Amino acid sequence: MSRGGRWSRYYDAVQARPPRDTLLFALDRFAAEGLPAAPRALDLGCGDGRDTVELLRRGWRTLAMDATPEAIDRLLARPDLPKDPPTAGNLETLVARFEDFQPPPADLINASFCLPFCEAAAFPDVWRRLSAAIRPGGRFAGQLLGPQDDWAQSGVIIHSRADIDRLAAGFEIELLQEVREEGGTPLARTKHWHIFHLVLKSSDKNDN
Ligand SMILES: C[S@@+](CC[C@H](N)C(=O)[O-])C[C@H]1O[C@@H](n2cnc3c(N)ncnc32)[C@H](O)[C@@H]1O
Repeated sequence: MSRGGRWSRYYDAVQARPPRDTLLFALDRFAAEGLPAAPRALDLGCGDGRDTVELLRRGWRTLAMDATPEAIDRLLARPDLPKDPPTAGNLETLVARFEDFQPPPADLINASFCLPFCEAAAFPDVWRRLSAAIRPGGRFAGQLLGPQDDWAQSGVIIHSRADIDRLAAGFEIELLQEVREEGGTPLARTKHWHIFHLVLKSSDKNDN
């Protein structure tokens, strides 16, 4: 996949794709427990909004952020974006980089296939801010990449299984699915994937 802000072809390739399974897993857990009052989500690296739309559809107040202005333009132009009040009023958007983002408190931080593109030196601080922003009983959902991923040499952030355990310290691991497989990218290239699919739950007492 091309990086450095050239995400247009990716957005073209994934348009109309369904929400990510990690998001659906987290949302189903919230639904089973009973939603928090006025549930608030952050959709990091939202891209063209495949996950944002699902959050809105399920009644979540959502801040969708992405460093690429085109992502937000595409999100706002989606035909399936709820247009009617009160749901339409539940969306805020922000063009910002993870590295500079001060996350507001949220019940769910969703980061589908985006955090590996953060600057490596900034990631520990970014993760600390994200963890601190998750409300008691809240969740993180998203993906990180492992050392066997073909992109490991290309500058994306790589996490070992031990790194994942360290990042998850203080959370309950509800989903940790490690996938190593040959597979396509949305741009139809074949590569070796090493993905950690994650859903983490913050303690109800917020001792993260
Ligand atoms: C692979 S796409 C994923 C988009 C969407 N979450 C999905 O699952 O289809 C990664 C997104 O992260 C955004 N991104 C990459 N680096 C970023 C950064 N440092 N800060 C904020 N967003 C970033 C890109 O603009 C892109 O929209």
